[in-house]
Amino acid sequence: MAKSRPRKRHAAAIGAAALLVAVLGVAAVRAAAGPTEAGGVPLRDLAAEQGVRIGAAVNPYLLEDAPDYRALVAEQYGSVTAQNVMKWNTLQPERGEYDFSTADTLTAFADEHDQAMRGHTLLWHQQNPEWLAEGDFGPEELRSIMRDHIDTVVGEHFAGRVYAWDVINEPFRDSGGELRPNLWLDTLGADYIAEALHTAHEADPDARLYINEFNVEGRNPKSDALYELAASLLEQGAPLHGIGLQSHFHAGTVPEDMVANMRRFTDLGLEVTVTELDISVEVPADEEELRVQARDYRTVVENCLRVSGCTGITVWGIGDADSWIPSWFPGRGAALPFDEDYAPKPAYGSLQEALGG
Ligand code: XIL
Repeated sequence: MAKSRPRKRHAAAIGAAALLVAVLGVAAVRAAAGPTEAGGVPLRDLAAEQGVRIGAAVNPYLLEDAPDYRALVAEQYGSVTAQNVMKWNTLQPERGEYDFSTADTLTAFADEHDQAMRGHTLLWHQQNPEWLAEGDFGPEELRSIMRDHIDTVVGEHFAGRVYAWDVINEPFRDSGGELRPNLWLDTLGADYIAEALHTAHEADPDARLYINEFNVEGRNPKSDALYELAASLLEQGAPLHGIGLQSHFHAGTVPEDMVANMRRFTDLGLEVTVTELDISVEVPADEEELRVQARDYRTVVENCLRVSGCTGITVWGIGDADSWIPSWFPGRGAALPFDEDYAPKPAYGSLQEALGG
C-alpha cells in the first residue's frame, strides 16, 4: 500500500500514544540486538513526531548476513531506499528479462517493519546493463525500451509499494549547468526527462516523481540550472513532484544557503528530500573531525525541518563499513552515523537531538 507522508497535525494527536507503543516495541528489538543498541528513542519515531521521514539506503545481502545491520535498519529508519538493487543492471540484466528477486527481499522487509520504500532509480548513466549501454539503439527503439522498463518496474511490479521514484538520476554534469551527455540525452534529446516523467506517472499515478542530483544543495550554477529545468518542466505540465538533494558532503562544507536553495524549489510547488546523506572525513578520523561531522548532521536535519516542503532525510548506508565512500574516494570515509561495528557515533546523537530527542 502506498504510504503518504506523515503530517504534523496528525502527529500531534497520536504523538504520545505512538511514542509509547514505539518505545515498548523497540525495547524488544533492542534486547535482541545486543551491541547494536543505539540508545534513546529511535530516529524513525522522532522523525514521525516532526512530520518527516528518516530513511536509509539498504543492501538486502547485508540484511541477511549482518544481524546488527538488520536490527539497526529495523529500529532506526522509517523509509528504505535500495542502495543498488533497483538499478537497471539488477532489474533488467538482459533485454526483456526482469529479475525482481533481491528488490523484493527489500520491499518484503520494509513491509514487515512498516517502512516506506523510495525507488532508486529509473534513468541514470551508471549501473546500466551492457546490452543497454552498448546497444547503440536508435531513438524509436530506445524510447520503447525506456517505456517498457518504466511500465514494468513502476507500474506492473512496484505500483502501490514504492511511494516515490528517482525517475531521473544525475541529469547534469558534475559541475556547471549543462545536461550530462548520456545514453538518454544523446539519443532522445532533452525531452527524455519529460517523457520519462509522463511514462512513470501513467504507470503509477500515486507515486511521487523526482529528479535526484548531487552538488545542488546550495545555490550554484548547477542548482540554478536544475531550478530552471524544474520550472520549465512544471510549465509544460510534466508530472514532477520533487527534487532529491543527494547531499554527499565533506565534513565542514554544508552550504550556508541550503535552506534558501530548498525554499526556491518548494516555492515552485515541489517537495524536496535529502536523499543520500553522508558526511565524509579524512580517514583515519580524529575526534575533532567527528565533532564537525556531528554538527553537520544536525545542521542538515535542522535545515530540512525549517522548510515546510522537505519530506525527510535518507542516509546513504548504515555503518561506516558499508558506505560507498572509501572505495570511490580513497582517503575519505567514516561518513555515516554508526561506526564499523555499528556502534553509534556522535553524529547519531546529533540526529536524535535535531529531531527533538
Ligand atoms: C552507489 C552505491 O552506494 C554503491 O554501492 C555502488 O557501487 C555505486 O553507487 N549517487 C547515487 C547512488 O545516486 O546510486 C550511488 O550509490 C551513490 C552516488
